[in-house]
Amino acid sequence: MSLFNVYPLYNVTPVKAKDVYVYDDKGVEYLDLYGGHAVISIGHSHPKYVSAISSQVEQLGFYSNAIQNPLQIQLAHKLEQISGCKNYQLFLCNSGAEANENALKLASFHNGKHKILAFKNSFHGRTSAAVAATDNLKIIAPINAQQDVDFVELGDLEAVEIILKANKTCAVIIECIQGVGGLDQSTTAFYQGLEQLCKQYNTVLIADEVQSGFGRTGDFFAYQAHNITPDIISIAKGMGNGFPVGGILIHPSIKPSLGLLGTTFGGNHLACAATLSVLDVIEDEKLMRNALEVSTHFLKKSLNIPNLKTVKGRGLMLGLEFDFPISELRKTLIFKHQIFTGGSKNPNQIRILPPLTVQKKHIDLFFDALQNELN
Ligand SMILES: Cc1ncc(COP(=O)(O)O)c(C=O)c1O
Repeated sequence: MSLFNVYPLYNVTPVKAKDVYVYDDKGVEYLDLYGGHAVISIGHSHPKYVSAISSQVEQLGFYSNAIQNPLQIQLAHKLEQISGCKNYQLFLCNSGAEANENALKLASFHNGKHKILAFKNSFHGRTSAAVAATDNLKIIAPINAQQDVDFVELGDLEAVEIILKANKTCAVIIECIQGVGGLDQSTTAFYQGLEQLCKQYNTVLIADEVQSGFGRTGDFFAYQAHNITPDIISIAKGMGNGFPVGGILIHPSIKPSLGLLGTTFGGNHLACAATLSVLDVIEDEKLMRNALEVSTHFLKKSLNIPNLKTVKGRGLMLGLEFDFPISELRKTLIFKHQIFTGGSKNPNQIRILPPLTVQKKHIDLFFDALQNELN
């Protein structure tokens, strides 16, 4: 049997990793400024993470959601404490798309409406409603196109109001910093205006924190910089540091009923143990503070780079936009300088999503390599 060929691959075969470094099958060491697409939060193979997962799998790796699982309750408490999201309710699933799928479905159950409002350049995942709310026609199959979605320019409150006024939109879904789309963000006035319009027109506000959450921006959630209160917050990626886990935080105004949502694997014992250890390490090692400090250093260093148009994003979710396409430069960074970086929908942008444990000296290595190639 062959693999279904959907991924363009770099010719590198990682076999082990430690903190911000990845090692291939020939023993070559790579600096990981991509974090496996913003997934590695506390560093590869963190000893507390390895020990939490190992001891959990020795005890009980999985049982279904038909029994008591105190680890889920422990996780909900810890998440409330570290995120500051008081009295939200937690529903656990397995990925970012699944988190958004459940968020959109719950919104529709809650207010009985059926349309979605999303933003241009958004990315929310590849399942049914999540992909329909993603601004990329190439990945929307005819079966997904049945969803009724309006796409609005990020920052355009007037357009939002015209749509919400029609009283058909169950949810507005937004990435407060766009990830795949290219690190764009709007103003606090816009996010607060959006919250207000959602309240006024009985529409659920979903903050997609799948990529920006779990400390990546220096705040636990990116929306927190704008002092708003989303109705639902979707999470995944950095949550499990590589263990597949996702979830939604649900405001107390939205009430559950038995059977409303469900999943076989979501919230299993291993996923909870992995996520609990991630939260412990974020707290113990003050990784949100580190994200801010290293980000400030990064921005300073970027000032000296030739051909650089702008730096977008916040914390350790950053995009460097050049005045030329960067695909060759990314290859050179991997194969000549052994540095992994990411791309985005913008062909001129390099995306930087390192583990939150990254240090200034690693950023210096990256900028030395860039200087070398661009001067
Ligand atoms: C903001 C955002 N939402 C949702 C997703 C989908 O997550 P997953 O690939 O885990 O389904 C992604 C993935 O890149 C994302 O960046």
